[in-house]
Amino acid sequence: MADKDGASSPIQEKSVGIVGLGYVGLPLLLAFRNAGCEVVGIDIDPDKIDLLGRGESYLSHIPATSISRVLAEKTVLSANMAEIEKIDAVVITVPTPLTHDMTPDLSFVESTAKELGKHLQVGQLVSLESTTYPGTTREVLIPILESESGLAAGKDFHVAFSPERVDPGDPDHELTEIPKIVAGLNKESLRLAVDLYSLITPEVVPVSTLEVAEMAKLLENIYRTVNIALVNEMKMLADRMGLDIWEVIGAAATKPFGFQVFYPGPGLGGHCLPIDPFYLDWRAKTKYDFKTQFIELAGRINASMPDYVLQRTRMALEERGVELGCAKVLLVGMAYKRDISDTRESPGLKLMTVLEEAGAKVIYHDPLVPILPATRDYPLLAGRSSVDLESGIVGDQDVVIIVTDHRNIDYELLAAEASLVVDTRNAMRDVEGRVAEVVGA
Ligand SMILES: NC(=O)c1ccc[n+]([C@@H]2O[C@H](COP(=O)([O-])OP(=O)(O)OC[C@H]3O[C@@H](n4cnc5c(N)ncnc54)[C@H](O)[C@@H]3O)[C@@H](O)[C@H]2O)c1
Repeated sequence: MADKDGASSPIQEKSVGIVGLGYVGLPLLLAFRNAGCEVVGIDIDPDKIDLLGRGESYLSHIPATSISRVLAEKTVLSANMAEIEKIDAVVITVPTPLTHDMTPDLSFVESTAKELGKHLQVGQLVSLESTTYPGTTREVLIPILESESGLAAGKDFHVAFSPERVDPGDPDHELTEIPKIVAGLNKESLRLAVDLYSLITPEVVPVSTLEVAEMAKLLENIYRTVNIALVNEMKMLADRMGLDIWEVIGAAATKPFGFQVFYPGPGLGGHCLPIDPFYLDWRAKTKYDFKTQFIELAGRINASMPDYVLQRTRMALEERGVELGCAKVLLVGMAYKRDISDTRESPGLKLMTVLEEAGAKVIYHDPLVPILPATRDYPLLAGRSSVDLESGIVGDQDVVIIVTDHRNIDYELLAAEASLVVDTRNAMRDVEGRVAEVVGA
């Protein structure tokens, strides 16, 4: 915090507040606390505050022990934004979803800015980490902070944008090992932000403007989205040609340069890839009269994948004389990706819905998702529970569809007991002694 002359104290003595304690915010809170900072965690969800206060975790990939140990001292957890008045840097990690008509929904950023602005203090640094379109920090966040606080950005308080690049559940890329892109509103904001993030990561990458940092994050995610769409399209063609796309990819990947591996799947999920590209698409159209063709095409291909899996399943069943409309189906893996419990935008939810619309009887198994949570697009699926594979239920199904390949699923049991497996992830490739017929999709 600034002293009464407005000078900032050295960052090492500073305390850090995180607003929004989800997949991004909670690991950040732990990282700053691990770096020795005093931390303040703010979330409007009282259940999260209660659980953390009791030393419990609500994210499957973060063990409770690291929470109880790390947050045992120098930590304030609250739903009350007033707690940030005593701290020096505030990091915002709230959701940036899409509206139903695929336009940016900045309501969480806006409401956070309004509340934060009421408590903002001279000398504080505010850093936005939520993924968003270029221009958000300057045109949306700063004006709200200024009008609510009566303070001037770049003069009375400092502003940065630093996109979060964490990959939840990926043990090979811890948050603290990933280089951090940082931009500031002006030189002093940048200096403070570089100092702040240097506490938790070995490499900080300063860039010249807020918009460059905002756009860099979108480029990263659009690059992945477009390449996944490409490989999904290649997969659908390879199926028609009678080629194994996984073997094709493996062969291509032996080239030591110029080729990066991406894998096909049943469709995109999570709070990033199905959403972020459309932030740029919207901005390009509305402000620059520019059509982002790659984004739109990739979006169409990726969104069509659950229907493709449905068609492959229908065909495989028909070959066995079973109509999809009368079939019993077990979906394996409802989280959107391996080894995490996040079901947001998961293709598993879409598949469950389209299969049931076609008349199939659908159950699921996911050790990380014992009960399906309420989601915006699939509220009617909330409350369904995961079946136990040991219960002998597998052999009773007409088809098992592997949607997400968690490591702790018993694939041997599936191979031994299922009669037909539609494998969207190539999860059965190394399973020995399988009885099941396996169809890629
Ligand atoms: N999940 C990822 O893998 C990932 C990776 C990189 C970047 N991001 C980006 O980070 C941002 C956050 O994503 P997430 O996955 O952590 O979301 P999340 O939904 O897991 O967490 C967001 C948290 O913010 C809280 N919140 C909402 N409004 C609030 C407010 N006004 N005040 C205080 N708390 C509030 C919610 O209760 C929730 O706990 C998004 O912009 C996302 O695109 C996500």
